[in-house]
Amino acid sequence: MAIERTLSIIKPDATRRNLTGRINAKFEDAGLRIVAQKRIHLSKAQAGQFYAVHAERPFYDELCTFMASEPVVVQVLEGEGAIAKNREVMGATNPANADDGTIRKEFALSVGENSVHGSDAPETAATEIAFFFSGLELVG
Ligand code: CMP
Repeated sequence: MAIERTLSIIKPDATRRNLTGRINAKFEDAGLRIVAQKRIHLSKAQAGQFYAVHAERPFYDELCTFMASEPVVVQVLEGEGAIAKNREVMGATNPANADDGTIRKEFALSVGENSVHGSDAPETAATEIAFFFSGLELVG
């Protein structure tokens, strides 16, 4: 399988509860390498731009308000099949449907406050990585 990179966000519900290290350990234990990482506080407009694909969804405003409520940790994960592997480690979007051992099963509070975001496909990964990081910041 090819080496891929994917964009991951540790969301405000998780940074607030000091879970960054425990979530990063889940990624690393799964063989994913954190090749870029920074803690930032998004404005609501920036969150809206990042999640523009969901602009028509009923939860869009709630999602943007939440993502701008407290700092997030944005990161690039690298590894074999990193996009699918990250989604496996995260678990289902709704923690009620997430498998045992996944980040969302262990840490997420609800479908909205679900602790992590991960890119869903190679094209989205490229766009989402470029949204937060310059090439100079990616150290493989
Ligand atoms: P994420 O993987 O970051 O992509 C879009 C996000 O929208 C998703 O995780 C959820 O946090 C959020 N989301 C999806 N469905 C709902 C919902 N029904 N109510 C609130 N937020 C939602």
